[in-house]
Amino acid sequence: YEKKISELEKKIKNFPNFPKQGILFWDIFSAISDGAACKLLQSLLIETIRTKYPDAEAVVGLESRGFLFSFSIAAEMGIGCLPVRKKGKLPGDVISYKYDLEYGSDTLEIQKDSIKPGLKCVIIDDLIATGGSLNAAIQLLSNSGAKVLGCLVIIELESLKGRKNIPKDIPIHSMIKYD
Ligand code: PRP
Ligand code: MG
Repeated sequence: YEKKISELEKKIKNFPNFPKQGILFWDIFSAISDGAACKLLQSLLIETIRTKYPDAEAVVGLESRGFLFSFSIAAEMGIGCLPVRKKGKLPGDVISYKYDLEYGSDTLEIQKDSIKPGLKCVIIDDLIATGGSLNAAIQLLSNSGAKVLGCLVIIELESLKGRKNIPKDIPIHSMIKYD
């Protein structure tokens, strides 16, 4: 497992000053342009879900990079794949959660019909930075009656201390850690 992680790590490129000056952008797409890396990442995701969250009944992917990984896990495990999207993108009855950003606010939504009370779900995204996105998704899911078992991300940017913004009782599993 550790060997596979370090192999994957080598394939993830970073881009300084993107999308803004002073930001170092860790680009998961740079890794998965390689077919062997796709296979490697897929097997790591499945191994991690099976070990950390064996009782998961659904995976919830965060728009947009999270969708890639939520579907691939859900398809392999034969469990539901639920999208959390920005306001106004999902049809039918939705549950919304509005949260503050540095400037202004954002609203995330999930389809009401996809959540049965107590549904055991795992939230998936490519990366945790400040933790704002994951925390908003956790609040949204909890408000909607689901049971959040935990989160799984490929990359954690440790210096941003995103874990501090996540409730203590929700485990976060990250596969690769950068400063
Ligand atoms: C990025 C990344 C995570 C989020 C992490 O998404 O894919 O979803 O930011 O940041 P945070 O921990 O500070 O909330 P982005 O909003 O850039 O959108 P994208 O996935 O559509 O590229
Ligand atoms: Mg994202």
